[in-house]
Amino acid sequence: MIDYTDKIPNNVDLGRDRVLQRALEHWQPAYMNWWYDMGPSESHALEVYLRTATSVEPDGWAQFGYVRMPEYRWGIFLQPRDAARQVNFGVHKGQPAWQEVPGEYRSTLRRVIVTQGDTEPASVEQQRLLGMCCPSLYDLRNIFQVNVEEGRHLWAMVYLLHRYFGRDGREEAEALLERRSGDVDNPRILGAFNEPTPDWLAFYMFTFFTDRDGKFQLCALAESGFDPLARTCRFMLTEEAHHMFVGETGISRILQRTCEVMQELKVENAGDVRALGVIDLQTMQKYLNFHFSVTIDLFGSDASSNAASYYTTGLKGRYEETKIEDDHELQNAEYPVLEVSGNKIITRNVSALTALNERLRDDYIAEIQGGVDRWNKIMEQSGISFRLTLPHKGFHRAIGNFAGHFISPEGAVLSKETWENNRDKWMPSAEDQKFVQSLMTGRVIEPGKFANWIAPPIRGINRQPLNFEYVRFN
Ligand SMILES: [Fe+2]
Ligand SMILES: [Fe+2]
Repeated sequence: MIDYTDKIPNNVDLGRDRVLQRALEHWQPAYMNWWYDMGPSESHALEVYLRTATSVEPDGWAQFGYVRMPEYRWGIFLQPRDAARQVNFGVHKGQPAWQEVPGEYRSTLRRVIVTQGDTEPASVEQQRLLGMCCPSLYDLRNIFQVNVEEGRHLWAMVYLLHRYFGRDGREEAEALLERRSGDVDNPRILGAFNEPTPDWLAFYMFTFFTDRDGKFQLCALAESGFDPLARTCRFMLTEEAHHMFVGETGISRILQRTCEVMQELKVENAGDVRALGVIDLQTMQKYLNFHFSVTIDLFGSDASSNAASYYTTGLKGRYEETKIEDDHELQNAEYPVLEVSGNKIITRNVSALTALNERLRDDYIAEIQGGVDRWNKIMEQSGISFRLTLPHKGFHRAIGNFAGHFISPEGAVLSKETWENNRDKWMPSAEDQKFVQSLMTGRVIEPGKFANWIAPPIRGINRQPLNFEYVRFN
């Protein structure tokens, strides 16, 4: 169980390490300042029906109740230690998992933790204005839940920095509160976390695609030989599942509503669909193309010596490492990667170690495809022939083998000019964004009411009815 009587709730026996406790208590007010500045806009007085972690056991860890978000009990929760755990891959395979940072991997591990940690406050910053145009109280509560949990994920990474990296770690923890998403001078570390999330369609796409990148990165780090990192990532994953649920069901509900209107009023043409105040399926496809492509860039270069060394040294594993049946060293293994050769895309086998980013990206894409298939069932059941598709892996890429190439969603290698001429057909144009923005007028906060462009969910949160007062404005 988690001790909530402490100033900083935790299950790591923080009270026994006074120096660490003081360092974190010093960071806490800076964190609160960041939350007041960059957390959800005009939300501080609202009472939100949130879940709070009460235990780190897989079942029954959540407690629901009304909370003002600045009073949310952010804290430090690690999955319990398994004394028999080992390093499960790389050259240290078979050694006991490390409880302290191995000196030679210190700077690498710190960089990995900072890069993960930086994404957590970034997404809160990206989403901070969306509460002002929420489609329902249910959705408003969900975005707030996501936001407080991303705040807690920041705490999780900051704990590791403070506990295991001394002064450097404390400085990094401060810098995490200083960078800002989209800031020209001091941006967040990774590209997708500097893109704006200007509307709820972008928010659901972000939580479906980009939070799932988070899931896969956390899964790879949950295999780490550095045990405290593995344990903290395992617990973060239980929270991540809800974020992806919000994304997938959000998109489903938009598709559902659009299909209902198309069927009822017998309209097909995108312009006619829009005229009825719902989002046309072509626009859904364009948003999908954009979010998919910027998110798969987050996995890094197709061939990466960093990825190889993270693996070889036991710092970052593969997705479900211990379920894979091979030697877990990969010295002689190969993996196929794509590259552009002339005007064709070809497959080339490279060392499996350097291709680990690509492998994680492929695992991710397979899971994404499952979600897209579920979305397509909605159109199928409505008798609408339109289907969403994932664009080619090379489409609109800025990192890796496809960077600098111009690939169509179907996988054709194009000239820059041809690609640019088609850009607005493939990705949200200024006009598309303006249309979606035009639906985000004001917030819908009457219990049980939903904006016209989105269907209600199938069920409420924690078995509450749909007309439950998920957020109290008082
Ligand atoms: Fe997160
Ligand atoms: Fe998340």
